[in-house]
Amino acid sequence: METRVAATSTPAELALAVDRAVELLRAGEVVALPTETVYGLAADATRPEAVVKIFEAKERPLFDPLIVHLPDQSWLGRIARHDDVMVLVEELTAAFWPGPLTLVLPRWSLVPDIVTSGLETVAVRMSAHPVFREVCRAFGKPLAAPSANRFGRISPTCAADVVKELGGRIPLVVDGGPTEHGVESTIVRVEPLLLTILRAGPVTREDLETFALSVSDSSSPLSSPQAPGQLKSHYAPRTPLILATPRTAAALALAAGKTLAPSTGVLAFRAAPKDASPFAAIEILSPTGDLREAAATLFAKLRRLDEAGLDLIIAEPVPETGLGVAIMDRLRKAAARE
Ligand code: TXA
Ligand code: MG
Repeated sequence: METRVAATSTPAELALAVDRAVELLRAGEVVALPTETVYGLAADATRPEAVVKIFEAKERPLFDPLIVHLPDQSWLGRIARHDDVMVLVEELTAAFWPGPLTLVLPRWSLVPDIVTSGLETVAVRMSAHPVFREVCRAFGKPLAAPSANRFGRISPTCAADVVKELGGRIPLVVDGGPTEHGVESTIVRVEPLLLTILRAGPVTREDLETFALSVSDSSSPLSSPQAPGQLKSHYAPRTPLILATPRTAAALALAAGKTLAPSTGVLAFRAAPKDASPFAAIEILSPTGDLREAAATLFAKLRRLDEAGLDLIIAEPVPETGLGVAIMDRLRKAAARE
């Protein structure tokens, strides 16, 4: 299958891209679309025979449920039940929608089993990306959309990276430029008085704490998975990756009587290692130490190191506050091998 990339830089291009995307979605096809977090691979969430194509293109196991993206807020009550958490949901959606917050709520039967992997809950969000919103609104129905990468791999943050992941497998990528946040949405299970963070993301724990009596965190890969998709290994480059400062990694290698792998790359937070000579490639996430910038460029830089033919990537830890929690979650999962 030929994968076409549709530009959206001019109003005419945007109109054409939206038309083409909607036409394909109506025909039960999949389309890659930009969101404010990462690129998604979208299909009509109400049609199992369309949704199954997402799983095929991504080689994603059927036990991993998808997020349903709503055209507008009026759809929420048709997809999810929130009678016992009405006020909390209203406050959260008023504060964060459209935007990078996904809510897990009990579902209605309009959502097919293939979307929720048979769970009694459904994950819902409303994307803030103008191109995604335009397509979803013109289509007029909710879109199921996981990140547009092959299963377990790095999420794409630009159209070219979608083509690298899924080229030849999907008919269309709508190019909306690089994504704003660079890491996937925060996923939160909503229960009366209690929010549980299932995946750390751009909306931070601190952001959520003003809304619920209690915010608990089960997004750590060390805790037992609450969602089938909370696998320990995810966002994985092909190159082995360890999480350590370059100095620690070198010291550990020395103590074990080995040198570092001959071709080692570094994913640094603010600055290159003092002695850069042992390293074949160095990427810096944010010279000013800005966690937002670091998150926005994380996957693209990780992908660049992965494509550099290295034997090892050393990723330097970032401060684990605010967005740093989401960055460290992705790095730990990139480092996990099972
Ligand atoms: O930012 C995002 O959320 C992107 C963009 C495209 O919207 N989407 C995304 O989807 O990251 P995906 O499929 O790559 O990750 C969705 C995660 C999976 O780990 C899945 O297990 C979890 O959401 N999930 C989906 N439905 C769930 C449910 N009912 N309960 C718990 N977790 C759920
Ligand atoms: Mg994903």
